Amino acid sequence: MALMQPSDKIFVAGHRGMVGSAISRALTARGYGNILTRTRAELDLMDRAAVNAFLAEAKPDHVVLAAAKVGGILANDTYRGDFIYQNLQIQNNVIDGAYRAGVKRFLFLGSSCIYPKFAEQPIREEAILTGPLEPTNEPYAVAKIAGHIMCDSYRRQFGFDAFTVMPSNVYGVGDNFDPQNSHVAAGLMRRFHEAKLARAPQVVAWGTGSPLREMVYCDDLADACAYLLENYEAGGMINAGSSMEYSIREIAETVRDVVGYEGDLVWDSSKPDGTPRKIMDNSKLAATGWTARTELREGLTEMYRWFLGNVAAKAA
Ligand SMILES: NC(=O)c1ccc[n+]([C@@H]2O[C@H](COP(=O)([O-])OP(=O)(O)OC[C@H]3O[C@@H](n4cnc5c(N)ncnc54)[C@H](OP(=O)(O)O)[C@@H]3O)[C@@H](O)[C@H]2O)c1
Repeated sequence: MALMQPSDKIFVAGHRGMVGSAISRALTARGYGNILTRTRAELDLMDRAAVNAFLAEAKPDHVVLAAAKVGGILANDTYRGDFIYQNLQIQNNVIDGAYRAGVKRFLFLGSSCIYPKFAEQPIREEAILTGPLEPTNEPYAVAKIAGHIMCDSYRRQFGFDAFTVMPSNVYGVGDNFDPQNSHVAAGLMRRFHEAKLARAPQVVAWGTGSPLREMVYCDDLADACAYLLENYEAGGMINAGSSMEYSIREIAETVRDVVGYEGDLVWDSSKPDGTPRKIMDNSKLAATGWTARTELREGLTEMYRWFLGNVAAKAA
């Protein structure tokens, strides 16, 4: 019997975020018409009693937890207490509440940054908990590791069908373009866009541009999540990257082209480069029959269109 039916009720927690909104679109595109959402104002996921009451009443068949406190390096390092407390609280409430409400399938979103800092590349799922974490985002990573272990423990003790999907660097429509808090592609996009408007002669990027990063487009990740909800029964965690690897220089140059900035891109090699290479081993995902298809330029083009209509338009 199929793991999901088109009429099933699916609660997507965090549906206004980049990943949650993409997952809602992917589920709708696959024919699921009964998607349940709540804004933070309607349901604060930090509030255990409210989460339990909502889930007990709504009785969703499946839950996707895409709500979390998320940010870049600076935010992770500065708001360490908020990152560990809020993420633990949200996931404890939603995982336990879903189990108590009789939810059939539960998808928890992890992150590639919860793997050890010096994990062997490409990073396999088995690398989890085998070494020290990157210190700047340790509180966030520890919370996410706890969420994964909680899903696994509820599966083993209670037979709750929960599993963890581990995305790599996600980018795309709905991304966070906050100058203090964005990831690489969104940060560069905003800077090139502003430099284009200001006719600035150059944009300076940190480091040498040589580190390699795996980039997954948000709608690809979302399609993988929907596909795994429909097909993946093994539990545990599964990497969901694109296996498309680009140097930071290639990412920056492609963003520059997409934005249409004609000034110079200058690399400040006195600034740190970060980890030389970060890519996940996606063979477990590939073995399920799913692979990513959106190339960087195509994804960035969609993302810039969205940025112009949503972020730049509001700022103007
Ligand atoms: N972006 C990436 O590169 C990446 C990579 C790996 C893993 N992930 C994982 O994917 C998941 C989603 O990430 P994202 O990039 O989509 O983040 P996002 O855009 O910041 O979205 C997170 C969502 O969670 C909601 N939320 C946070 N706290 C809440 C609360 N107390 N009550 C209700 N809603 C709350 C936010 O609501 P508001 O709209 O009200 O703020 C927001 O809509 C996270 O678990 C993250 O770890 C992301």
